[in-house]
Amino acid sequence: MLISLPSASDCKESDVTPESFYFSRRALLGGSVAALTVSALPRWADAADPSPYADVEPGTAPDWFKAKLSDTKWQAVTVKGEAITPFKDATHYNNFYEFGTDKGDPAKSSGSLKTEPWTVVIDGEVGKPGRYALEDFMKPYQLEERIYRLRCVEAWSMVIPWMGFPLSALLKQVEPTSNAKYIRFETLQDPKSMPGQRSDFALIDWPYAEGLRLDEAMNPLAILAVGMYGRELPNQNGAPLRLVVPWKYGFKSAKSIVRISLMSEQPKTTWQTIAASEYGFYANVNPTVDHPRWTQAHERRLPSGLFSPNIRQTEMFNGYGEEVASLYAGMDLRKNY
Ligand code: MTE
Repeated sequence: MLISLPSASDCKESDVTPESFYFSRRALLGGSVAALTVSALPRWADAADPSPYADVEPGTAPDWFKAKLSDTKWQAVTVKGEAITPFKDATHYNNFYEFGTDKGDPAKSSGSLKTEPWTVVIDGEVGKPGRYALEDFMKPYQLEERIYRLRCVEAWSMVIPWMGFPLSALLKQVEPTSNAKYIRFETLQDPKSMPGQRSDFALIDWPYAEGLRLDEAMNPLAILAVGMYGRELPNQNGAPLRLVVPWKYGFKSAKSIVRISLMSEQPKTTWQTIAASEYGFYANVNPTVDHPRWTQAHERRLPSGLFSPNIRQTEMFNGYGEEVASLYAGMDLRKNY
């Protein structure tokens, strides 16, 4: 973000990618939710330990989350021929400025985040506004595992197995009014548990906020996640509820959401407010539009090290063009970056 690019040696070379994590992309979306079906339960679905992933630190999942595991659609969307990032990298190389600006800070400091009880407010241009305890908010939804690429604007990337549900399902429930054109996500403001919010040097005007156009939010790829790697979200990854929009730079994926508002006007978002010339509202992954201070043509896939930097070409819309390109038909993506 405003800080300089991390050096290629930030991740240890010994963090090699486990080859057992190659999945086929069973049913990529043909533009409809109906395409998201799983033909059979994966081999781990009945195991006592619900996580199929190596070296996943056990969490302390709330009962509502555990109750949803047996009915989860595993591998509802996958990535063909790309290794899943080891849990350790996904949970120790984070951006969560509420807990500090170093990549290791969120893992070190987010233990103070209290995720139970948690309340989510739905308001603005909706027929059914409300204030929900998270377990009630989650009641209508079946969990799906969505294995997605995550591309940060800082030019590193990962492949993460999220667990969540389509944002479109929530929107259908809350009945946006005809004035609703955008959706805004507001995240937790709690300086007591979030040391970054107590810092006098923070650039961010808290709370961290993000937004989407309503048709982007309705795209089947956009999800609200409550878990990853077969368990609940670790605090540093945005527990207990975060947005995941895989065709956009990672900063759009707001963590620890407390309020979802439907709006008639485009909301102000955190990074656009800090530096509009560097971070746009759309923030679609685009290898042809460079950040003013670095190229976006390629990325470092984690884990990467000095002797195996693991550089790959960045794909337009992070490889999800088939599903999302039509959202931007006729738009100048150089202006609307
Ligand atoms: N959400 C909040 N509340 N605060 C943040 O600082 N950082 C964003 C996004 N969501 C951020 C946030 C950025 S810049 C990125 S790249 C992703 O979270 C990182 O997600 P990860 O740490 O799970 O990889």
